[in-house]
Amino acid sequence: MRADFDALAAFGATPKGGVSRPSLGEAHLAARAWFLRRSQEAGLETRVDAAGNHSAILRSGRSAAAPTLLLGSHLDSVPDGGRYDGALGVVAALHVLLAVQKAGADLSVALEAIDFTDEEGTLVGLLGSEAVAGTLTAESLRAPRGGREALLAGLELAGLHEERLAEARREPASLAGYLELHIEQGPRLEQEGAQIGVVTGIVGARSFSLVFRGAARHAGTTPMGARRDAGLGAAAFAVAANAVVARDFPGCVATVGDLRLEPGAFNVVPGSARVALELRSPDAVQLDELESALLGEAGLAAEQHALGLEAIPVGSWEPTALDPGVRAAIRRAAAALGLSTLELVSGAGHDAQALAGVTRSGMIFVPSVAGISHDAGEHTRWEDCVHGADALLGAALALALGE
Ligand code: GLV
Ligand code: MN
Ligand code: MN
Repeated sequence: MRADFDALAAFGATPKGGVSRPSLGEAHLAARAWFLRRSQEAGLETRVDAAGNHSAILRSGRSAAAPTLLLGSHLDSVPDGGRYDGALGVVAALHVLLAVQKAGADLSVALEAIDFTDEEGTLVGLLGSEAVAGTLTAESLRAPRGGREALLAGLELAGLHEERLAEARREPASLAGYLELHIEQGPRLEQEGAQIGVVTGIVGARSFSLVFRGAARHAGTTPMGARRDAGLGAAAFAVAANAVVARDFPGCVATVGDLRLEPGAFNVVPGSARVALELRSPDAVQLDELESALLGEAGLAAEQHALGLEAIPVGSWEPTALDPGVRAAIRRAAAALGLSTLELVSGAGHDAQALAGVTRSGMIFVPSVAGISHDAGEHTRWEDCVHGADALLGAALALALGE
């Protein structure tokens, strides 16, 4: 497993020691091609579906019509991300199949290691898993987070067709469940000294492109009092949003992850500012309230700086609970391995939240050193990665054997 993990980290490797594999870019597609080759060389059946999800399959010897237990994660990354986010789950899933194959175990389910398309949302977010779940909407493809042009370019490079993505949908009856191993990406397991995280649920998230519009003017001759500075409005919003969440929304987060000023020059007062806003909460009602509060702050900042404002929704995911039976199977698998567990909510989004709508789903977390993620500094001790893979194998066998 270590050799495969290291081989994958070479695709899109960055000088800082992480990976940059934005969805459906060259490095991502190369990593996916490697995964298929590696699986084929191991004698596994492989498949690429209409949404570009890449799979390795170990059929049940008992019945060709046996339902499939999906084990997965994703091989795309955020720009300048770390090696572990997604990749660990895919490599561990592959190695669960290899372990079962090697043992010659004959299960009553097919096992499928799946690499979902565009989990990270550099294009859309959960594109492949929502296609499998049958919840990918035309609307989310019309105004995606990464912009329509980037989506079309990515689909073309990958040889995918927008009108065919939904064909990746699976019948719920054809699925026996979904399990995902992932790094925690936060500090709790490390802080509590727990080896395995049993994920109870996943936060909901909303994203918006906020466009503040003012007037581009000469930066030397336009008096300070006569400006409609879009950059200033956007900056005021970012500061106010942070204060509002910290003050009124415990347990929630909001982030301005990108800010683009136009035309973008030393000597021009910005005429427009585009803000990438994302907000998250584990609670659906609070998520609505947080959204209203933040859009209210954006309106206020626009008014105070005499700006126009457009708020374009570019992604929405509801908070999701994971299956109690699968959680129990993970706890038992960890206990059998002598590993300590902690139940926790995921602050990061995952493909499991899409699958949870159509099949029993669960997630296993392993500790992230210092809680760092979405950065090259992301690290999980290899021993913890192996613990996670062992727990994944144990939980998969328990579900496959109907325990
Ligand atoms: C995915 O990692 C996300 O939570 O943004
Ligand atoms: Mn991930
Ligand atoms: Mn991620």
